[in-house]
Amino acid sequence: MPLVSAAEFVKAARENGYAVGGFNTNNLEWTQAILRAAEAKQAPILIQTSMGAAKYMGGYKVARNLIANLIESMNITVPVAIHLDHGHYEDSLECIEVGYTSIMFDGSHLPVEENLEKAREVVALAHAKGISVEAEVGTIGGEEDGIVGKGELAPIEDAIAMVETGIDFLAAGIGNIHGPYPENWEGLDLEHLKKLTEAIPGTPIVLHGGSGIPDEQIQEAIRLGVAKVNVNTEGQIAFTEATLKFAADYSANKAEYDKKKLFDPRKFLADGVKAVQGMVEERIDVFGSANKA
Ligand code: 13P
Repeated sequence: MPLVSAAEFVKAARENGYAVGGFNTNNLEWTQAILRAAEAKQAPILIQTSMGAAKYMGGYKVARNLIANLIESMNITVPVAIHLDHGHYEDSLECIEVGYTSIMFDGSHLPVEENLEKAREVVALAHAKGISVEAEVGTIGGEEDGIVGKGELAPIEDAIAMVETGIDFLAAGIGNIHGPYPENWEGLDLEHLKKLTEAIPGTPIVLHGGSGIPDEQIQEAIRLGVAKVNVNTEGQIAFTEATLKFAADYSANKAEYDKKKLFDPRKFLADGVKAVQGMVEERIDVFGSANKA
């Protein structure tokens, strides 16, 4: 299936009480792992690049074409959107230009009026090309690829104003944090989420910082209006742990592994890549989007 905007399938998730995964990719192998998982689970998904990951991969055009070409060569049949995660204004425009099918313009660090104004502009340009748009109010705590947030709850009036710009789904701070959650984390503010959902009925809400939140809390958030859950750190941890285990086995059995040429990166990284696929499949089950393609 060719690339699609995420607007329709995220809306369908919101209407039918499940969430789709927005999985961050970091390289070729991860992209393959995420696509394999989505196909195995028959789940619609967003493959997303942070600004930093796209730079690492050689730029937006390279990242976009890599994902698009893999979808074709792997005969992926489920709906896939290529999404910019936490993009600055200029980066949003560049991704619209090079063929991303979904954009997150993140102006949450700007004064509210400017955040709204720029979101309006991104919506006009993106929607003219059938590209879906996510924007953020409040902030997600923690740090992701240089994007730092204090974790402010999304003010209800800002959420209403942002939805009026015409965006397709809204990222809202509800006590969520990028990266691992600290021991003393108090959990998602589900009361605040409820207030948001009542203020913007029908608008799908995006849960950032999806790694490490207890499954019951994620599922309750989905019941309360979350329709897209972003996951990055859990994939990074799964990949690194499996690779470390392989490396330890390698060290313990060096002569034998060398003989089998397991120093070949395609083999050396294979367990890590499998772990990413397993994580994505498991998350899709928790989010309820299996067999929704
Ligand atoms: P985690 O890295 O905490 O899973 O968050 C991912 C995310 O929200 C991407 O925008």
